[in-house]
Amino acid sequence: MRILVTGGAGFIGSHIVDAYLEAGHEVAVVDNLSTGRRSNVNRDARLYEVDIHAREFERIVADFRPEVINHHAAQASVKVGQADPVHDLEVNGGGTARVCALALQYGVRKVIYASSGGTVYGEPERLPVTEDHPIAPRSNYGTSKYVGELYVELARRTGGLQFTTFRYGNAYGPRQDPHGEAGVVAIFTGLMLAGQPCTIDGDGEQRKDYLYVGDIARANLLALEAGDGLVANIGTGIGTTVNEIWRTLSDATGNTIPPRHGPPRPGDVRNFWLDCTRARDALGWQPLVTFEEGIRRTVDAFRAG
Ligand SMILES: NC(=O)c1ccc[n+]([C@@H]2O[C@H](COP(=O)([O-])OP(=O)(O)OC[C@H]3O[C@@H](n4cnc5c(N)ncnc54)[C@H](O)[C@@H]3O)[C@@H](O)[C@H]2O)c1
Repeated sequence: MRILVTGGAGFIGSHIVDAYLEAGHEVAVVDNLSTGRRSNVNRDARLYEVDIHAREFERIVADFRPEVINHHAAQASVKVGQADPVHDLEVNGGGTARVCALALQYGVRKVIYASSGGTVYGEPERLPVTEDHPIAPRSNYGTSKYVGELYVELARRTGGLQFTTFRYGNAYGPRQDPHGEAGVVAIFTGLMLAGQPCTIDGDGEQRKDYLYVGDIARANLLALEAGDGLVANIGTGIGTTVNEIWRTLSDATGNTIPPRHGPPRPGDVRNFWLDCTRARDALGWQPLVTFEEGIRRTVDAFRAG
């Protein structure tokens, strides 16, 4: 199958590219390298260093004629979204609208869209969070990611474009940026391997749903053949505390420096994990990598540089 992956030089997108190539598909990547890296992109994929808003993007879709567009390009930072809501909406809302418009124009069969389970639901009313939980984001980023969902649904309703929308939990794994403001596993791994202390926000007992990136890539592989019209959570259904992450990572890295505690993050959701029954029923997907195993693979990859 010919597949175009937007954001394929980023953390999650690059793992999806690897999974598609390994399954024998032909892959092109469109990425403006704003946060992504050329070195993340598999040599067997064609990389176009192009912005999804640029004219050039249309020519690539017209020439490559993908059967599926896997859309992972985004402004992926909650903090940046708060500082610049217009840019956030342009990339995440407007960018997704453009992907859908081009998909319709050039006969693409399906768009696979990366949404955010951690932000579109807002403060959970009940746990685990199912897909029919009210949509009530508390950030510009969560709002713009949901706008993207509305565009892919609109394209199906009015143009017959197929879609699968995934609402991910907190992804972690190799290639996650340790210098970002989010991604506690990557940040702590980077600090521990550099022999520096980690700072835990608040008491560290906040629980989130941390999912290994390889399990996300596998969901995107299954969505090539199934899950048309599906909106599904992709997580583990397990809440892991920041203190547990710190302990597991300390074991894996040999870290002995105790953590510091900073103030709690303002507006942070305290407890959050996803019900993923729908993905299991529709795709036969479930996470296969345990937290300990995922951490071990992450630390090994960070050590290898
Ligand atoms: N990391 C998570 O835990 C998580 C959770 C839920 C959803 N998501 C979503 O998954 C996707 C990937 O996130 P990630 O964590 O890998 O982030 P990332 O920043 O590593 O990946 C985003 C990629 O998109 C590229 N990009 C950004 N703007 C672009 C543009 N205008 N044109 C072309 N390329 C552009 C970046 O260069 C980068 O390679 C995003 O859509 C994000 O919203 C991530």
